[in-house]
Amino acid sequence: MANNNESIHGSWRNRWTFILAATGSAVGLGNIWKFPYITGEYGGGAFVLVYLMCIALVGIPVMMAEVAMGRRGRQSPINSMKALVSEAKAGPGWKLIGWMGALAGFLILSFYSVVAGWSLSYVLKMATGVFTEVDQTVAGDQFNGLLADPSMLMVWHTIFMILTVGVVIRGVNKGIESTITVLMPLLFVLLVILIGYGASKGDIMSAVDFMFAADFSKLSMEAVLVALGHSFFTLSLGMGAIMAYGSYMPRNASIASTVFTVAGLDTLVALLAGLAIFPIVFANGLEPSAGPGLMFVTLPFTFGQMPGGQFFGALFFILVAFAAWSSAISLIEPATAWAVERFKVSRAKACTLIGVIIWALGIGSVLSFNDWSEFHLLPGKTIFDTFDFMTANVMLPLGGLLIALFVGFGMKYHHAYNEMNMKNAGLFNLWYIVLRFVTPVAIAIVFINGLLPECSFNAELLNAETGECGNSVFMTPRFIGGVILAVTYIGIIVKSLQKPSRGLSS
Ligand code: PHE
Repeated sequence: MANNNESIHGSWRNRWTFILAATGSAVGLGNIWKFPYITGEYGGGAFVLVYLMCIALVGIPVMMAEVAMGRRGRQSPINSMKALVSEAKAGPGWKLIGWMGALAGFLILSFYSVVAGWSLSYVLKMATGVFTEVDQTVAGDQFNGLLADPSMLMVWHTIFMILTVGVVIRGVNKGIESTITVLMPLLFVLLVILIGYGASKGDIMSAVDFMFAADFSKLSMEAVLVALGHSFFTLSLGMGAIMAYGSYMPRNASIASTVFTVAGLDTLVALLAGLAIFPIVFANGLEPSAGPGLMFVTLPFTFGQMPGGQFFGALFFILVAFAAWSSAISLIEPATAWAVERFKVSRAKACTLIGVIIWALGIGSVLSFNDWSEFHLLPGKTIFDTFDFMTANVMLPLGGLLIALFVGFGMKYHHAYNEMNMKNAGLFNLWYIVLRFVTPVAIAIVFINGLLPECSFNAELLNAETGECGNSVFMTPRFIGGVILAVTYIGIIVKSLQKPSRGLSS
């Protein structure tokens, strides 16, 4: 097994660089842009509570498993999976984890880069005083104007992709590691400055109330599915990013404690971002449920009203862009590492080609906001919405489920035990049990419930005359995704109980 060697791509200098890189991957648009707006859309406190439970019961155990798989495999996620499957003499179906992850990475980065482009454009807008003392309609018009202009969106999307590829082509140490070690401390300094600024200006109490007062009557099943999906998205789980970073991790570093640090920092940043954004929203009597525009309309407007807002506003969007950049790097790394291994080409060639493919896919997201806004890939969902939905709510949880099941049932117990190298055997067993039984069952329950008609939870949606459910979700992607998952789940359990098969290709 390759697990005593280094990866051909390099290794992190020490445990701390792994923590920085993984935190860089985890902390991104998911924390600053997506978390506040979905919290707003799904009603606040109860949603936040479910999200925190998902992080603890599902996210952290899966992250430990994903890092362990990467470090044991020591290659790109696709090839690590091959190696691990043949080491465990498990069924070939597990290799799906690597392939589906790579596909999810392409899809996520293609729309992620477009949103990151918005934040780049907002650095310029804020710094040049476009929002200084304007009223709210002007702030809204600015955002709508940007979305309506495909060429502007393309310019920023292209710049962001170039920035991302520019780091990754220089390799794990010279590129990723050296960028991250500068970017991450800067990011934290910026965050602290901005929180200080925000806390002194906005309505903190209403924000705390909105985010932490849980009213479960508002919680729909869909909200639970979104919270679960988001816990994967925000921790960068289920698609191989963390597995790739794990493969560059020093052998002697403790997986459990590093994962707790990364997950803790990621959660902290999300909560802080909420506490920075909602006070401003409430102080101005704005709607928390404004959707994806929340960060790009309410915030610039408010910054524009405040003393020093031009400067701090620009700083805020620099923070967002940095956070997105360090995540984007991790989205493109797994496929790049695989292409280098598979085709024996230089990293520069591999990454550039992959970058171009993702860039081209991103054109679909750019046009979702203007010329193709009527074109729906899934019912009611533009290309942008579809990619977001399919990755966060279907592919990442499915990837996470498979990872939990693979380490729990596919891999040999003593391999998992050795790789985790935990001093406390009791804690190891606790993790192992959670990973085998609690995590997969929690994911499956949320999926299966997510595909039942909302009427089974909310009778008001039932049409009294026709007896039909107002928004049946049968045959929607949620339904189909759920069926695929349920079938996969059962299939895998059955397979994992089989005797090892012989002659597997690896
Ligand atoms: N975790 C990143 C964020 O919160 C997004 C991401 C998802 C990065 C999956 C890598 C893999 O923005």
